[in-house]
Amino acid sequence: MQVVEETRRLQERADQVRAAGRRIALVPTMGALHAGHLALVDAARAKADEVWVTIFVNPTQFGPNEDLERYPRPREADLAACRGRGVDLVFAPREPGFYAPGHQTWVQVSDLTRPLCGQGRPGHFRGVTTVVTKLFLAAKPHVAVFGEKDFQQLAVLRRMARDLNFDVEVVGAPIVREDDGVALSSRNRHLAPEARSQARVLVGSLDVAERAVREGVFRGSEILARVRAELARAPLACVEYAELCDPDSLETCPEALSGPALLALAVDFPSADGGEGARVRLIDNRVLYPHPHRQEPPR
Ligand code: PAJ
Repeated sequence: MQVVEETRRLQERADQVRAAGRRIALVPTMGALHAGHLALVDAARAKADEVWVTIFVNPTQFGPNEDLERYPRPREADLAACRGRGVDLVFAPREPGFYAPGHQTWVQVSDLTRPLCGQGRPGHFRGVTTVVTKLFLAAKPHVAVFGEKDFQQLAVLRRMARDLNFDVEVVGAPIVREDDGVALSSRNRHLAPEARSQARVLVGSLDVAERAVREGVFRGSEILARVRAELARAPLACVEYAELCDPDSLETCPEALSGPALLALAVDFPSADGGEGARVRLIDNRVLYPHPHRQEPPR
């Protein structure tokens, strides 16, 4: 497995691989790799001849009060995990080297970044789309794989690739969960023990919503009332949003659901290091299919 730290070097390698007629699948990450990331590696392998992983904690997508400093950076363990999964190349630029001094160029997707996480994290998606643009231009992949765990991020990146004519196929991969159903996230390790056990309430409320739809409840307000009642069972949970929206436009669903609806949740919990205001923000989501005659589309 090759480890590359410099952008110029990565571009040269990409040119060589492309000239040899081989396809590159890219898996962008911020490291602290877990089974969710490694599932993206497997999905990537099915799509190309070479799998390249990028590891870079991107400062421009963190807000001033977010956890950039304490974001874990277990570089050697990450490289070992990639090696163990048969990754061909890791691009791990030294911070902050990936951005040129005085960087002032941004890529921004407008409407899709306003709702959901865009509300509480202004500037976050601008940082994501800018760094992913830089990664696409550095690694020149044919395919890039992102997790459905960050559903809005995936939607935004798909739109960006389409709007800017990137010659990159953006592929989504399913959410990977712990045994108890909690979606894997590098943030889970920061949860206080009691918060970790209450974190199951996110997937629990997705299940409640799915069950409601299966029972024929198609009124958005009724589904959300059941979701909120379920979330309220976790006293440590502070709900940032629980919304039903169109999976393509991310606009709020009409009251009477008539097609697929994304149930998106963001909930925060106290962190293990306990400081005043130190919270861990978890997200989860599921697409609901309210029409009994409409089959879930194949992935
Ligand atoms: P990061 O949070 O490291 O996630 C990297 C990729 O792993 C994303 O596509 C994310 O959706 C996916 N992922 C994380 N947890 C997952 C899980 N439990 N199941 C499936 N996929 C999961 O997302 C980012 O980094 C950054 O915003 C990035 C795109 C790298 C830009 O900096």
